[in-house]
Amino acid sequence: MQLTVVDHPLVQHKLALLRAEDTSTNKFRLLTEELARLLAYEATRDLALEPKTIQGWCGPIEVQQIKGKKLTVVPILRAGIGMLNGVLDLVPSAKISVVGLARNEETLQPEPYFEKFVGDLHDRLAIIIDPMLATGGSLVATIDMLKRKGCKEIKAVVMVAAPEGVKLVNQAHPDVQIYAAALDSHLNEHGYIIPGLGDAGDKIFGTV
Ligand code: URA
Repeated sequence: MQLTVVDHPLVQHKLALLRAEDTSTNKFRLLTEELARLLAYEATRDLALEPKTIQGWCGPIEVQQIKGKKLTVVPILRAGIGMLNGVLDLVPSAKISVVGLARNEETLQPEPYFEKFVGDLHDRLAIIIDPMLATGGSLVATIDMLKRKGCKEIKAVVMVAAPEGVKLVNQAHPDVQIYAAALDSHLNEHGYIIPGLGDAGDKIFGTV
């Protein structure tokens, strides 16, 4: 399975706080950012480095810097926005591509109502962010869109994943690695992850 569950104690502690029913909007938003930062740290662990000679205090020294890799962060509206600042803390110069998807009530498939991608996608690593990987439909659709635009390297960072969503993404896009704080039990009949977090978008935006 191309799912990495990040078992770092800080990740697990923050996830536990997020799961509490009485977590306030303010706290939920802050924890979402903090968790996104820690998960993005793992997702960027294998970025290639290249040596560079710089002028240090005692003369020229060889240092390691990230190899010409450009990055785009791709929040899926609306909840993905809640993770954005956490990821940008780590990669402040990353460009942002935004995708909005709505379910077509006839086909039941997610369809884009908004898309704004940065240029040179063939040359960039795309990191898709969305707090909840539920059915996987939105993530698969976003990966489809990125690949159609020429993007060749894609990762996804979610806070909580359901097995159903992981399976769908796995089947459609086995090359995409997913990073999550937890793989939960299942989806309920309303499409919510159990035990999950509830509606992450509502909790981030305070629209509960
Ligand atoms: N979206 C959410 O916000 N929560 C879920 O459990 C599933 C989808």
